[in-house]
Amino acid sequence: MEFETKIVRGMIQPDPTTGAIIPPIYQTATYVLEEVGKDKGFDYTRSANPTRQTMEEYLALIEGGKYGVAFSSGMSTVDSCLKLLKAGDHIVCSDDVYGGVSRHFDQLLTQYGLTFTYVDSQNPDNVSSAIQPNTKMIWIETPTNPLLKITDLKTVGDIAKKHDLLYCVDSTFATPVFLKPLDFGADLVIHSTTKYLSGHNQLIGGIVITNRVDLFESLKFIQKTVGAVPGPFDCWLTILGLKTLDLRMKKHNENGIQVAEYLESHPKVENVIYPGLASHPMHHIAKEQMSGYSGMISFELKGGLSSGKALMNHVKLCLLAESLGAVETMITHPATMTHVDVPREERLARGFSDGLVRLSVGIENVTDILNDLDQALNYL
Ligand SMILES: Cc1ncc(COP(=O)(O)O)c(C=O)c1O
Repeated sequence: MEFETKIVRGMIQPDPTTGAIIPPIYQTATYVLEEVGKDKGFDYTRSANPTRQTMEEYLALIEGGKYGVAFSSGMSTVDSCLKLLKAGDHIVCSDDVYGGVSRHFDQLLTQYGLTFTYVDSQNPDNVSSAIQPNTKMIWIETPTNPLLKITDLKTVGDIAKKHDLLYCVDSTFATPVFLKPLDFGADLVIHSTTKYLSGHNQLIGGIVITNRVDLFESLKFIQKTVGAVPGPFDCWLTILGLKTLDLRMKKHNENGIQVAEYLESHPKVENVIYPGLASHPMHHIAKEQMSGYSGMISFELKGGLSSGKALMNHVKLCLLAESLGAVETMITHPATMTHVDVPREERLARGFSDGLVRLSVGIENVTDILNDLDQALNYL
C-alpha cells in the first residue's frame, strides 16, 4: 500500500457494531468488568482508551514505527521521554530547540539532577565532543524552532549507537510526510501533535513513536502513572486531522517554497532561513534526508526589530499568533512570544536576533499570502 493511502486510511476498520466509517469517540473514564479479573482490554482511561489507542496506532503506522504513546501536549511528551533517565544522567541537546523545551530542561529538570549540554548539532563533531561518561541521551530537533537548523540524522545516529545512547528526535516541523527519523537510527521520535499532525489549531497534544518494545513499555508505564493523557475527543480530532496530512503537507511545502523565494528576492529582507532554499547552509543534508521542507520560514528584515514589528502589525491575512503547522498562515515574533524564556545573550549567541520573524505558511492560495506580505512590507 502506498504511503498516501496509509495516511488516509490508517488501517482503521469500520466500527464493528454499527459500520460507522469514522471510529467512535469513547468518552468514558472507566469500563465495566464482566467479572473480577476479566475486562475487555480496557480498565481505566488513564491507562488506555480505545479512541486514544486508535490514534496511537495510526500515528505509529504513518511514522513507520511499531508503537505510539500519546500525551496531553508536546511538552508532556518531552517530559515523559526524559523520565526514562535518572538523576546524574547527562543529555547532549541541539542548541536551537523550541524555547519551551530548553525552559523545561534548564528550569525544571536540572532540579532533579539531570544535566544538559547544548551544541550546534549541524556539525556532528560538536555532538561527539560533548559526550561525557554519564551521557545517556542525544536530543535532536530538526528542523529546529526557530532557526530551522538541520541535523544530519544518520551521522548523529551512528554516534548515538557507538556510545550506546538513547537517540531522540523531535520531528514536529518535518512530519512523517517529509522525514522518518526511525530510518536514521532514532530510538524515539516525538511530535507536538498540536502542529501539523492535527493541523487545524484545534487542540494541544503529543506523541512518541518507537520500534523498541522496552521503551514502549517504559513509556506506557510513565503514561499511566503520571496521567498526562489526551482526552478521547482530542484524539478523535487528531484522527480526523491525520486523514488529510499528506495533502496538507504538500500544499504547505508548495506555498512555503514560493513564499521563501519571494522573501529572499525582496529588497527589504535581509536574510531568509528555509531548508528548501539553496542558500540554507545545510540544504544538501535537508535535500538528502527529507522529501519536502514544510511551511516554516524564518527571516530578518533590514531595520531589524522595528521593521519586524511593523510587518507583524500590518499583516491582515497572516495571523499574529503563537503556534505553527496549521492550515492558517501564522506569523510570530519568537523573541517575545515562543522563545521569551530563552535568555537574550543565549539567543544572540546562536544567531537568533531580536528582529527574527517566523512564518508558518498555511494552505491558503499562495497569491493571497504573497499579496498580504507585500502590502505589509510597503509600510516599512
Ligand atoms: C519543535 C517543538 N517541539 C515541542 C513543542 C511543544 O509542543 P506543545 O505546545 O504541544 O506542548 C513545540 C511547540 O511549539 C515545538 O515547536
